[in-house]
Amino acid sequence: MDTNSNKTGEGAAEDVAIAVGADKPQRKVFVKTYGCQMNVYDSDRMTDALASDGYVATDTMEDADLVILNTCHIREKASEKVYSELGRVRKVKEEKAKTGKQMMVSVAGCVAQAEGDEISRRAPIVDLVVGPQSYHRLPELLHRASNGSRVVETEFDIQDKFKHLATPSKEAVRKRGVTAFVTVQEGCDKFCTFCVVPYTRGAEVSRRVEQIVSETERLAAAGVREVTLLGQNVNAWHGTGPDGREWGLGELLFRLAKIDGIERLRYTTSHPRDMDDALIAAHRDLDSLMPYLHLPVQSGSDSILAAMNRKHTRDEYFRLVDRIRNVRPDIALSGDFIVGFPGETDQDFEDTLDLIRRVTYGSAFSFKYSPRPGTPGASMDEQVEEAVKTERLARLQALLMEQQESFNKSLVGQKIDVLFEKLGRMEGQLAGRSAWLQPVHVDAPEELYGEIATVEILKATASSLQGRLI
Ligand code: SAH
Ligand code: SF4
Ligand code: F3S
Repeated sequence: MDTNSNKTGEGAAEDVAIAVGADKPQRKVFVKTYGCQMNVYDSDRMTDALASDGYVATDTMEDADLVILNTCHIREKASEKVYSELGRVRKVKEEKAKTGKQMMVSVAGCVAQAEGDEISRRAPIVDLVVGPQSYHRLPELLHRASNGSRVVETEFDIQDKFKHLATPSKEAVRKRGVTAFVTVQEGCDKFCTFCVVPYTRGAEVSRRVEQIVSETERLAAAGVREVTLLGQNVNAWHGTGPDGREWGLGELLFRLAKIDGIERLRYTTSHPRDMDDALIAAHRDLDSLMPYLHLPVQSGSDSILAAMNRKHTRDEYFRLVDRIRNVRPDIALSGDFIVGFPGETDQDFEDTLDLIRRVTYGSAFSFKYSPRPGTPGASMDEQVEEAVKTERLARLQALLMEQQESFNKSLVGQKIDVLFEKLGRMEGQLAGRSAWLQPVHVDAPEELYGEIATVEILKATASSLQGRLI
């Protein structure tokens, strides 16, 4: 499949969606999304796939004929949320049954992949358990489940998913706004010892260049101005370009930057080991590539980095950050940190704080280590006590918050570009994002929705900016 991919793959699905959907009774689907941006993207793709079966999206569970929980398995808390939510779903389902109305229940996402059968055992109201690689088959799987038999579908065949992903209608894209995600890579081969992703999403697979380009062109034509390329290891993306050469993410970004209407490009999440020269050059040469980079390091201690199987040292991370800042001095970094990985000593933790002080982050996510079933970390000796994790997380977050606040405050008095992406909380206000992803609130006319305008920043807090139109 090369240049024909449009006909056999995504392009064709749009026609089918509209043609088949038209003569089906209208039904409503309620999708609740947990976890990362890839789940957000996938939830929209599920809604798109179900459009062919006459389903429209609803925001209220009580209205729904079908409820889908798109779940996350990354930490224990995330995973357990599913079961408490299923308790609520059961009540709604029972209430509806009293009035003779049916409601189907499906669990999708990473918990579905990891726990499979176990879910229907623990929660018998679940009709369908579907792993992330089978969403294009949702209509068929739901038909199978609708006659009362429970269906569990957790096979890995990811190229299949990319080939058959349904395309949203222009209307659906418009409703979703002026920023959009495009998955370019899925899965992970890195096997960090704390992480479930290689088990829930499978091996690394890259989407084809022409699929990515055509999806981005369609989004641009429907009014999208900013595209964020997604992958668990987005910078491990690679593919054959139209020039016959092997492309990496850098080359792909250069290609996407040429699409009319796309004014901002981002990508997430990148692994430090896959930041190659072409990608760094893209940060130097592409105006539309935003000066913001999520580059998780997890820990600042060499021995913990080794135990986590991150395959780089703290020094290599410092050198990488220097190379990126050399070509793009205004770049803001963001990161992910884990405290309390097995064996983490006070000194290891101090090394992480030291790394944060040396790098300085514009924003960051940080977590207590959560032992996950089936991962090497879970069976390591020297698990760290909960109280120690709590104390370390508080110190780490205080430092990160300080850095985030001072970064935000450094913008006060500056004139920056803001993409307006929604109506503000107050009448006459619009909310947008800076190049560095900070939310910016501005008094502005509604016509500026979807536009980029220059804003003078008047006030900053740790979490957002306020400004006035220039
Ligand atoms: N692919 C990305 C991360 C995906 S998971 C990367 O390599 O950086 C998102 C974040 O969740 C991770 O960066 C990590 O900080 C956190 N995380 C993953 N597994 C975890 C666990 N078992 N306990 C606590 N945090 C975890
Ligand atoms: Fe998980 Fe590591 Fe893969 Fe990121 S690179 S998804 S942390 S295994
Ligand atoms: Fe969670 Fe799966 Fe994303 S485990 S973080 S939803 S890849």
